[in-house]
Amino acid sequence: MKDIEFDKSVQERLYNRAFELKIAPSLQCLIDRMIFLITDSNSSINDIYKVLNQDPGLSAKILSIANSAYYNRGYPLYNLHQALVNIGLEEVKNIILCLILMDGIRGTLKFKDLFRFWRHSIFVATSAKILAEKTLDENPQVAYMGALLHDIGKIVFYSEIIDYEIRSKSLISDKKEIVMAEKELFGTDHQEIGYIIAKKWGLPEAITSIIKNHHNSEKGNELMLLKLIRISDIFFYCRETNGDPEKLVLIKEKENINGELKKNMELLNIITYAT
Ligand SMILES: [Fe+2]
Ligand SMILES: [Fe+2]
Repeated sequence: MKDIEFDKSVQERLYNRAFELKIAPSLQCLIDRMIFLITDSNSSINDIYKVLNQDPGLSAKILSIANSAYYNRGYPLYNLHQALVNIGLEEVKNIILCLILMDGIRGTLKFKDLFRFWRHSIFVATSAKILAEKTLDENPQVAYMGALLHDIGKIVFYSEIIDYEIRSKSLISDKKEIVMAEKELFGTDHQEIGYIIAKKWGLPEAITSIIKNHHNSEKGNELMLLKLIRISDIFFYCRETNGDPEKLVLIKEKENINGELKKNMELLNIITYAT
């Protein structure tokens, strides 16, 4: 492999941002919906869960809090609904309000980038959950959460690199995956940056491993889970099956996956956006 030339100051900026990141930005419509729910005395844990379950940044943060020394019950917690129950409704509302008041959640990301990130995360999460349900190999909730958070490292690239998507895509080819393009251009990739965030936030091991290894299904401790998420990730970009049974399942379920995405967009009042 040839020596890679990249701007060391960009690499350093990405690492620093990952270490400092307290909260990943959310779509404004999602924040608005959340503010409505936490200020409504009639809202339930279920109402909050339905919205939180669609947001990689806030759900990662809640999961990290539920797994912290204060709330941890002695075992890793992957289930977001259970995390909310363990923390308790009033405390959940207080925590979310604090998170929303933090500057980072509004972020400096363009709506276009944030929407693209959100749409991809929801699509992959819904696909991975369906695959886990059909194959009975993995817990659907863990599959959903792992997939929802798998690309969390991209948030740092979107916020630190102008035209990140265009620049990295220009190097992607049949043989070169996005992580290789990122390494070549910036000296690190979204798996490594995501791993720094996941470790720093204390996310459970299975999810941390997915974030770190989702572009290499040979690695990681949760091989089957990783495979389901990797297939769902690839399916988002390429709908051809090549006879792969898991992809055939996803093709059959395509309407349901798109329906779920549409439902979430309606719930959040996202009218439409061409990608
Ligand atoms: Fe990725
Ligand atoms: Fe992805």
